[in-house]
Amino acid sequence: MRVLGIETSCDETGVALFDTERGLVADALYSQIAMHADYGGVVPELASRDHTRKLLPLIEDVLNDAGMTRAELDGIAYTAGPGLVGALMVGASTAHGLARALNIPVLGVHHMEGHLLAPMLEDEPPAFPFVALLVSGGHTQLVEVRGLGDYELLGESVDDAAGEAFDKAAKMLGLEYPGGPNVARLAEQGDPTRFRFPRPMTDRPGLDFSFSGLKTHMLTAVRSLREAGQLDDQARADVARAFEEAVVDTLVIKCRRALDATGLKRLVVAGGVSANTRLRERLAVETGKRGAKAFYPRGRFCTDNGAMIAYVGAQRLVAGERDDSAMRAVPRWPL
Ligand code: KG4
Ligand code: ZN
Repeated sequence: MRVLGIETSCDETGVALFDTERGLVADALYSQIAMHADYGGVVPELASRDHTRKLLPLIEDVLNDAGMTRAELDGIAYTAGPGLVGALMVGASTAHGLARALNIPVLGVHHMEGHLLAPMLEDEPPAFPFVALLVSGGHTQLVEVRGLGDYELLGESVDDAAGEAFDKAAKMLGLEYPGGPNVARLAEQGDPTRFRFPRPMTDRPGLDFSFSGLKTHMLTAVRSLREAGQLDDQARADVARAFEEAVVDTLVIKCRRALDATGLKRLVVAGGVSANTRLRERLAVETGKRGAKAFYPRGRFCTDNGAMIAYVGAQRLVAGERDDSAMRAVPRWPL
């Protein structure tokens, strides 16, 4: 089955073609990051308009790369949520329009399920069951994954997502959106011993997270350095390093607990923050100690992309799932 995947939930327009016999055949991505950077974050109305402009040309690109015509498609999958409602509507209406015109099945899929299963596109995919840490700009969740659609939420953030905390910390340091990679880059020059930030909710049992306190901690640190006239480049790097260490350490502690609690030996890490190098270094050590293994999507599939949506859609369409009558755009949708 040849399935076209469409992702438009936030600020990336992603399209891909997944063939259940050949695997991932083609994928294309257009990022709106530069456009939103001027505003310090994603502007929903601009996001929708840009998806409208870019989606059909990207679909053409993917079909051309695959050497296929629309008529050879067997199904279409799109991100039905969670995400920005206007942005989701662009993908949903395009998917349903195309599917109707081609008389093929269409299915709305969960964006976070896409992230969760993105490592399945790699050469050595993880076998079920596994523990997954989903860390993006909108979510921080630990999930026990027993099979396709068989997910148990083990813990999640009670306030900000880890990626959101990175983005806010970046703003405080005067860095551009999206902040995660920029904070990480600055942190490389930082001294890890100069400041110590708290590791929220690690002093009690449980697998939930909280990152809003770290944001306040960051604000206080930056403010007092500025007032003392000490906010030079080195101080900014040292603060960035302390912040990154605190987020990473917190994520690592909870992953360790989740592996111990479930007795599982495979850990999938996905979503934008899974691109973080420090997090990967730390998790390599922790999983190594336990005889466990961490799995990641390739770099460009850590953040939003069409390939993960095409993959999930293909698995579900093959199993007979359909959404043919109703277009879906669900801004808030638990996994
Ligand atoms: O999964 P994603 O592309 O979009 C959402 O569904 O949210 O994740 C984007 C998030 C942003 O908050 C971004 O700052 C963060 O992932 N991010 C990173 C890194 N790369 C992206 N955070 C920390 N370190 C990175 N290297
Ligand atoms: Zn995402």
